[in-house]
Amino acid sequence: MGQLDGKIALVTGAARGIGRAIAEKLAAEGADVVVCDLNRDWLAETEQAITAKGRKALALATDVSQAKSVQQTVDEALKGFGRLDILINNAGITRDGFLVRMSEEDWDQVLAVNLKGTFLFTKAVSRGMIKQKSGVIVNLASIIGLIGNAGQCNYAASKAGVIALTKSAARELASRNIRVNAVAPGFIETKMTAALPEAVRGKMLAAIPMARFGLPDDVANVVLFLASPASAYMTGQVLSISGGMVM
Ligand SMILES: NC(=O)c1ccc[n+]([C@@H]2O[C@H](COP(=O)([O-])OP(=O)(O)OC[C@H]3O[C@@H](n4cnc5c(N)ncnc54)[C@H](O)[C@@H]3O)[C@@H](O)[C@H]2O)c1
Repeated sequence: MGQLDGKIALVTGAARGIGRAIAEKLAAEGADVVVCDLNRDWLAETEQAITAKGRKALALATDVSQAKSVQQTVDEALKGFGRLDILINNAGITRDGFLVRMSEEDWDQVLAVNLKGTFLFTKAVSRGMIKQKSGVIVNLASIIGLIGNAGQCNYAASKAGVIALTKSAARELASRNIRVNAVAPGFIETKMTAALPEAVRGKMLAAIPMARFGLPDDVANVVLFLASPASAYMTGQVLSISGGMVM
């Protein structure tokens, strides 16, 4: 028996990296999963991994920063599965650069995907959750949203915003039996971090007490905990997954 038997989950940005690991983890615990990303074709491997576990997958092209696209995806998901029990707001991007050189476009784009995308999906999915009087939402923040980072004013602001949104939504929705929590990963090995120069990676590693970078599965395991009844009395919380980088 899985911890999520009979549950329907939706994971954004599920084509690769942490989102894919989360989608596979939820399926392994018995959930059917709606997976979305910018391009439907990119989702083929995630979709196969879910069906290989004997669960149903529905792959949809979605731009989380566009209200119309988000609503279409939620409508399709509800048409396909009838309800949504779990929402994982994972899609996120970086457009790094020092403040004085950061373009308005790089600021707007990061806020639009990371923060507005989380707002749009939370709003669109929580309507149904309120009606069914149950639901779980997990948002991908970052330790950068807690401690800041030179060269990431846009990203840090977006993730601090995700944390504030998490706590506010948790307060609004708690009485409807909907829990909203966030995870704050540290340095996780994905394509997002592979792009960083070796010198930056070395500096990061030196700051991690556990002396290793995290893996997508390290994050997926904590997201599973927050999505499962094991965390039934937790809402509005932010759990750091950083090998001790943030304590
Ligand atoms: N990798 C890390 O070290 C790390 C650390 C802290 C937090 N995070 C957060 O975890 C989440 C996943 O990160 P990752 O490392 O797996 O990144 P990634 O770049 O490997 O994957 C992100 C996915 O999101 C998708 N995406 C981007 N913009 C989108 C949009 N507008 N609509 C729909 N999908 C979109 C991408 O296509 C991609 O498949 C992000 O929110 C990120 O900020 C990552």
